[in-house]
Formats: sequence, structure tokens, C-alpha cells
Amino acid sequence: MKVLHIMAAPRGAGSNTLAVSRAFFDALAEAHPGLEVETLDLHGDGLPSMNPHVIGHEAHAFDMGMKFAVMYGHSTPRTEDPAWKEIAALVEQFKSADRYVVSAPMWNWNVPFSLKYYLDCIIQPGLTLTVDENGAYVGLVNDKKLVFITARGGDYSPGSPLEAMNFQEGHMNLCFGAMGVHDIEWVVAQPCDLGPADVAVKAASEKAVSIASSDWAA
Ligand SMILES: Cc1cc2nc3c(=O)[nH]c(=O)nc-3n(C[C@H](O)[C@H](O)[C@H](O)COP(=O)(O)O)c2cc1C
Repeated sequence: MKVLHIMAAPRGAGSNTLAVSRAFFDALAEAHPGLEVETLDLHGDGLPSMNPHVIGHEAHAFDMGMKFAVMYGHSTPRTEDPAWKEIAALVEQFKSADRYVVSAPMWNWNVPFSLKYYLDCIIQPGLTLTVDENGAYVGLVNDKKLVFITARGGDYSPGSPLEAMNFQEGHMNLCFGAMGVHDIEWVVAQPCDLGPADVAVKAASEKAVSIASSDWAA
């Protein structure tokens, strides 16, 4: 059982999101000693370039870019391209995990750019998802679970005035769900700016600990 911690929270020790994540991983280590945890720091590790070789930069040049080549059923002649190899390695790392923990605060009603960029890299037709004859997405990353840990300045709880501005949850559920990861639990510390952050972090940490102490990683 391998857990991939995808970190898109750059504030380090001052981060409310990471305070909750620390509580989660402490409880996880206690409940499941020996669990393999790999960390991908999206603000520290650097990500491959989604350059024209990887995407295909001209409308007719689908056979030049891996993403469009696969999407349109063309041959894939660029598998030796170094840029593509980096993307493929990132996809392999993602697929090699059994469980995911994503740590990302709310930025501008969604997630930080780094997480969106990571998803742009790994959502690849033929590798993490495909499309059936009716045009529906079919995920290729199955039997996984994900915990999404986030901190928000405001309170976007159901029924609150800010609820309609929460583009974080729906978008992330769609991105990971399209790849086949449907078992997603949200752990939310809110409000961290429009209310006392310590109270919000404590409540979220309690939920995080209860998931980590369960059979989530069994
Ligand atoms: C660039 C940026 C954009 C933000 N956008 C929002 C937002 O749209 N809604 C919100 O409630 N809080 C927003 N915040 C506040 C953070 O979500 C909040 O302070 C959170 O606790 C930060 O998490 P962290 O401590 O893990 O970095 C934003 C903060 C930053 C730095």
C-alpha cells in the first residue's frame, strides 16, 4: 500500500492546510505503521513542461504531440521525446499509488495554479482516462481513494452565502473522478481568515485523524 502526498501548499510551517495534513499523517503512521508514503511537493520539486511537443501546437499536427496523437488515435512517434518522458514518469508515479492525499488551500475560489498544472500534466488520454463510444469519460486509475485537505479564508459550507463561489470541490471531484478516482473525502478547515484559524484547523484535524485511523489505508 503506497500513499502519494500531493502538496500544493507553499506556506510551509505557517500553512493551515499542512497543519491538518500533519495531523492526518501522524494518525496514519500510528494506525498503519510501515505504510509507504511518497511526497510530491508541487511548489518545490518542479514539474515538466507542457510544451508543444507534448501537446501538439498546430491544429493539423496531431501526430506531433502525444496528447492529441493519442486522443485522435494516431501513432505515437514521440515516446522518446525527453519532454514526453517526464510527463509519462509523472503519470507513472500517480498510477503507482494506492491512496492519495492532496494538500491544497483555496486560492481564488479554486486550487493553487500548481495543482491545476499538475492535473494538466497527468490527465492524459490513453494513460489515465479514455472516452467511450458515447463520449463519456472512462477512468483508467481505479480502486484508489483520495483525501483532499484544504484550508479556506472564508466559510463555504452548504447553505452559506459563499457556497456558490466554491469552484474548488466540483472541479477537483471532476478532474480526479474523470481519471477513475471517485472515492474522495474532503477535509476542510474554514473559515481561517474570516474566523479563528485555530478553531477551524482543530475541527478539520479531528476529521482527518478519524479518516486516518479508520480502514482507509487497510
Ligand atoms: C493567492 C491567494 C488566494 C486566495 N483566495 C481565496 C479565496 O478565493 N477564498 C478564500 O476563502 N480564501 C482565499 N485565500 C485565503 C486562503 O485560502 C487561506 O488563508 C488559507 O488558510 C490558506 O491556507 P494555507 O495556510 O495552507 O496557505 C487566498 C489566499 C491566497 C494566498
